[in-house]
Amino acid sequence: MSDEELHIICTDREGAVHTLPALEGWRVMEIIRDNGLPIKAECGGALECATCHVYVDNEWLPKLVEKTDEEDEKLDEAFMVKRNSRLSCQIIMREDFNGLKVTLAPETD
Ligand code: FES
Repeated sequence: MSDEELHIICTDREGAVHTLPALEGWRVMEIIRDNGLPIKAECGGALECATCHVYVDNEWLPKLVEKTDEEDEKLDEAFMVKRNSRLSCQIIMREDFNGLKVTLAPETD
């Protein structure tokens, strides 16, 4: 895949790095899930489960749309929350997020 093609870069829980083709308007959670990486995303993006937790690369953090209060509250239920934690169903892919780097957060069970 060339750098111009819309994509994200996702590190899995074993540390393997995957370049995933992305579509504008898709949730980052959907991009991860539909490319076969293990993300539970139990509620399907309804902001009810916090199982789509990812860590956003520090360099990308300020470029994203800010968290809503609802996302912040739901993140409190996630495991091992860090400063760069986000719920990936709340990040909608767009052109200027091309190359976005995220890492899957650990699962609770
Ligand atoms: S998929 Fe449930 S909160 Fe993101």
